[in-house]
Amino acid sequence: MTAAASNGAGPRIAVTGRIPQEGLDMLNEAGLVDAWVSLEVPTVQQVHDIVHGAHAAVTLLTTKVDDAFLDAAGPQLKVVANVAVGYNNIDVAACAARGVIATNTPGVLTEATADIAMSLILMTTRRLGEGERVIRSQTPWQWGMFYMLGSGIQGRQLGIVGMGDIGCALARRAKAFGMKIAYSNRRPVAPALEAELGATVMSLDELLSTSDVVSINCPYNPTTHHLIGAAELATMKPTAFLINTARGPIVDEAALAAALNSGEIAGAGLDVFEEEPKVHPQLLQCENAVLIPHLGSATLETRAAMARLAAHNAINVLSGGIPPTPIPVPAG
Ligand code: DGY
Repeated sequence: MTAAASNGAGPRIAVTGRIPQEGLDMLNEAGLVDAWVSLEVPTVQQVHDIVHGAHAAVTLLTTKVDDAFLDAAGPQLKVVANVAVGYNNIDVAACAARGVIATNTPGVLTEATADIAMSLILMTTRRLGEGERVIRSQTPWQWGMFYMLGSGIQGRQLGIVGMGDIGCALARRAKAFGMKIAYSNRRPVAPALEAELGATVMSLDELLSTSDVVSINCPYNPTTHHLIGAAELATMKPTAFLINTARGPIVDEAALAAALNSGEIAGAGLDVFEEEPKVHPQLLQCENAVLIPHLGSATLETRAAMARLAAHNAINVLSGGIPPTPIPVPAG
């Protein structure tokens, strides 16, 4: 299941999943690459076998990088280069404790992910999933003045939870669609950026209770686990929609399914799930949920850019330099 392509010298580089050729070509120039080639996700044991003895590990978001991974790799490991902006799969503190630099791929997937978030806003508010299911199931339908009416978004408030690069890119899109922008964040964004986006900072509580669409764009970590649960959903308007393109476990899926079924909120658009690739069975029954399979960064151009940036990160560390996008090591 792995392919070794060698220039005959240099460090050993393990790649724990299929990545675009652009990234592999760069890595092959830099050392002896042992790459997982199957489209199947490798088991934990298979990952540990690939990384054993590696100086660099290029990982996907499905690869758990923990003490067991680091033990399996061995003390020569210098860098873990994640091909994703999210790094909840990596124990960054454990890496740092062993002198292993962890890196991610911010920036290159910002626009693609914001496109998907905006798409989900339109799909949920305009009931496009339901409409598509009617056509594909050949259910009889007829144009009518009151048939499958959705909600307009012009003049409505989009509340963005997490105003990083992707949140800002979504705000630009939503503003162009005539939405008003509110956001909650650990700290307010720079005044010039706030002015450009016409964005108003507010507490999470205020954002949830006043927004017509709430979009989750924050990182997943212990402090954001189930950030949106039954209590938070109960504070949202019954006409409001929830969008999640960040990480599944930020939203309590069972509570969300209950809120969608009871009409506590109007709809949801999800690109990510608590236990991917599994989806909560009750969500599958919700007509008012649009469910797509983690496609945020899934364009040819974006995936190639992610692979190139991850390769840059790995190669820079291997050659003693500073990687372009290191993950900050948590304090303490
Ligand atoms: C990321 O990079 O974290 C995205 O979720 C991948 O699509």
